[in-house]
Amino acid sequence: MNAIQVKNLSKTFQVAIKKPGLSGVFQSLIKKEHKDVPAVQGVSFDIARGELVGFLGPNGAGKTTTLKLLSGLLYPTSGEAYVMGHLPWKREKEFQMNFSMVMGQRTQLWWDLPARETFVLNQKIFEIPEKDFFARQDRIVDLLDLGSLLDTPVKKLSLGERMKAELACSILHYPKVLLLDEPTLGLDLVMQKRLRQFIREYNAETQSTILITSHNMADVEELCKRVIIIDDGKILYDGDLSKIVEKYAPDKLVSLSSSKTLDAKDLQKFGRVTEVSGQDAKIEIPRKQVSSVMAKLLSEIPVIDLSIEELSIEEIIRRVFTDA
Ligand SMILES: Nc1ncnc2c1ncn2[C@@H]1O[C@H](COP(=O)(O)OP(=O)(O)OP(=O)(O)O)[C@@H](O)[C@H]1O
Ligand SMILES: [Mg+2]
Repeated sequence: MNAIQVKNLSKTFQVAIKKPGLSGVFQSLIKKEHKDVPAVQGVSFDIARGELVGFLGPNGAGKTTTLKLLSGLLYPTSGEAYVMGHLPWKREKEFQMNFSMVMGQRTQLWWDLPARETFVLNQKIFEIPEKDFFARQDRIVDLLDLGSLLDTPVKKLSLGERMKAELACSILHYPKVLLLDEPTLGLDLVMQKRLRQFIREYNAETQSTILITSHNMADVEELCKRVIIIDDGKILYDGDLSKIVEKYAPDKLVSLSSSKTLDAKDLQKFGRVTEVSGQDAKIEIPRKQVSSVMAKLLSEIPVIDLSIEELSIEEIIRRVFTDA
């Protein structure tokens, strides 16, 4: 049995339309008009146990709505979803005990209390044996560098600090299925890396199934072999990330500054020159050749500053769309 099975899942929100002006207010008091917002439209996918899958798409594509359906926070308009064999919206105990969802915008930590107290509460709720609880807590605190943050009231934590505490709290019971909605949002680069490492280790160690949404290309590249791309509530792609990156983003963009004025003619042998102005230039280089080309370029050009950029996931997805 697959850890997550989604069949033709749809969710349409009904949103009240408010007419403009004062007469609109009176009209809406008498008779409310609604419009349908089809957030998720006939989505199907399966995720095997132990898989770590990226769930991508532009703003408003339906990612969070799908995750809320899978966690039982929303009831679908039609279709089915099974998480570890359970219909999530039934909220059966076995489902709850083995499931977790982390959303940046929603906190399960008690605002006025230090996170440690919510941890203890969760230990009771999830019936985690004391020995396991303390061992896991120590490990998680160490890996996420939580330290004294656990003893600070949650409302006094920064966004990134809270996100770390949130993640820690959500996995104390070692859920078999974990949904992460933009877990690195608001974290600095060092912490993003740590969090990714943590997610990877957790996945490998516990064979848990993880579905993660992110607008951060590094999250997706470092963590997910498989991605599901959704737009306008429908699935556009489900398969290996490497295939779409190779197809839609075959080049990396190298920006460089030289101590001498640059000439496009001298740069053309390195790749596709997209911009030259004075001592600065931008060159697109096929991703597989970047290291060899860079070695050559550095030996020939007096480079004083250099950056190698990846196309943003947004841009890659946009290319998938224009092709679709
Ligand atoms: N509770 C709600 N009531 C009405 N419409 C909603 C509700 N929640 C979401 N929507 C709408 O459903 C669509 C999908 O929203 P959703 O939050 O799932 O997008 P998303 O893919 O998570 O986007 P983002 O990347 O910005 O987080 C949007 O058009 C949104 O406005
Ligand atoms: Mg969202």
